[in-house]
Amino acid sequence: MGRDARESRPVIALDFPNKMKLVNFLAKFPVDERLFVKIGMEIFYQEGTDIVKFLKDLGHFIFLDLKLHDIPNTVKSVMRCLAKLGVNMTNVHAAGGIKMMEAACHGLIEGTLKDQKIPKLIAVTQLTSISEKSMKKEQLISVSLKESVVNYAQNAKKAGLDGVVCSALEVEKIKAKTAADFICLTPGIRPMGESANDQQRVLTPSKARKLGSDYIVVGRAITQAKKPYQAYQRIKEEWNKKER
Ligand code: C5P
Repeated sequence: MGRDARESRPVIALDFPNKMKLVNFLAKFPVDERLFVKIGMEIFYQEGTDIVKFLKDLGHFIFLDLKLHDIPNTVKSVMRCLAKLGVNMTNVHAAGGIKMMEAACHGLIEGTLKDQKIPKLIAVTQLTSISEKSMKKEQLISVSLKESVVNYAQNAKKAGLDGVVCSALEVEKIKAKTAADFICLTPGIRPMGESANDQQRVLTPSKARKLGSDYIVVGRAITQAKKPYQAYQRIKEEWNKKER
């Protein structure tokens, strides 16, 4: 199956402390380059909803990564507000439970304006910074990390979500237990030879592709590169390379 315009783009995690730094970063890209960007908590809490509008007006696709995790009623109300921003994708923590995820879906549907599409809703399973050892020790989950992730993915599917955030290592099993078109968006991506930073489960773009990821999220390997646009192009090329 071919990729659509969004899937072919690595999602750039815009983890910047303020709009000025973000603007400086975007200035390194050609003005007509349409990007798929991830707005995370750092920039969102600093700049508020204006930053979403700013990036939307530039024509970029937007994944609003706020990882909601609260009681169902609160999450529903927040999703109703976020839906009005007209983003392409947003998310919750699967650990919030099936009822919370259902409420999130309802909030998004209710809040989406008439002429807009309902944003895709995905759930964070286990963060890619969590190792199996720490999951067992700190969360007292006794099954394997993969089983925990697949369980969260199945809950997300039951609640009517479109997909999950997971490691590329888990994609095959998740799709087998949910559906082939259940979105698997995978962070923890590093080109060959680069530092893993605080991520535990890292993979290259081509490996993620082979493993069936639908979207890859790349932050520091692009945002902290000496030449961000070149780094982005290399990653995009590797991500889209057809297998021989
Ligand atoms: O810099 P790096 O490529 O590690 O950034 C990864 C991005 O993906 C960060 O913005 C992080 O918040 C996000 N993320 C993640 N693991 C998840 C969910 C989101 O690393 N499970």
